[in-house]
Amino acid sequence: MDNFSFYDLQPKISNFPDEVLAGLSKQQKQIPPKFFYDEYGSKIFDQICELEEYYPTRTEFGILQQHSSDIADQIGENSLIIEYGSGSSQKICFLLDSLIKPWAYMPIDISREHMLSASKTIADKYPNLKVLGVYADYTTEMLLPEYAISSVQKKVIFFPGTTIGNLEPEEAIQLLKRSAMIVGSCGGMLIGFDMKKDPQILHASYNDSKGVTAAFNINLLTRINRELEASFDTNTFTHYAFFNPQKSRIEMHLISLVEQTVVISDRLFNFLEGESIHTENSYKFSVQEIENMSERTGFKLIRFWTDPKKHFYPG
Ligand code: AVI
Repeated sequence: MDNFSFYDLQPKISNFPDEVLAGLSKQQKQIPPKFFYDEYGSKIFDQICELEEYYPTRTEFGILQQHSSDIADQIGENSLIIEYGSGSSQKICFLLDSLIKPWAYMPIDISREHMLSASKTIADKYPNLKVLGVYADYTTEMLLPEYAISSVQKKVIFFPGTTIGNLEPEEAIQLLKRSAMIVGSCGGMLIGFDMKKDPQILHASYNDSKGVTAAFNINLLTRINRELEASFDTNTFTHYAFFNPQKSRIEMHLISLVEQTVVISDRLFNFLEGESIHTENSYKFSVQEIENMSERTGFKLIRFWTDPKKHFYPG
């Protein structure tokens, strides 16, 4: 396949044991959400995306499907499309089908195998497109391949899936600032934001009736048991997700149903009855907040596309 090249930026792989032990030693116990996605967790996440109550995935697909030619016109010809967290590279097809003569597609992902197999599928499907697969962590500073970056004027970063909402506001700002440096003054960024909405819709979305999101959350403890020889009794923890209006975010926690002590790699962690481990934040945005973020980071909000219910907003 001569339209595919691979670049290994040798990303620093997170240290699961150290980060779990450090997080559970804090006053408010916490585990970073990036650890949800082991093999089983990724499968459960795919099931979440199919749930009736979980509107973001299908809403974003709908927007991309409906507005792809308008988005492609806005991007213009001969551009390099860089995708953060490309995973299975499904959403990009809406754009690739509509873009006029894109110069190249650069999927970036921290899962090497996932990125390699998805890139090869895209390279097969679009034989006239250069596919420049990059194994890297887009949440940190990256030195992207010089050849790709200097050979093209217009670079557009595609960051779908409302993943920006799982970053803390300051992390999101830093990521956008680094992105503005990558794309330069001729480029742009297409981001999927989940909008503020009726808290009941949000609540249902993170507390689905089939208990899939609960299984996703609890799987973190199963993973810690397996990989760190820990003694979590998963029946004594329960999933808890709620909308925090002051911070405009869904918070996910695991609540201990009893007072107990858990052993992890020979260390003891005490839990009071009702004490929680904070496992995820998912921020919800207003148009004004998106405009403010853009201004702080060197971007200007020029276009946005939303769904009829205004739930979602790649801008
Ligand atoms: C990956 N991320 C955008 C999802 C979200 O909605 O914040 C993760 C998720 N957590 C529970 N359900 C879905």
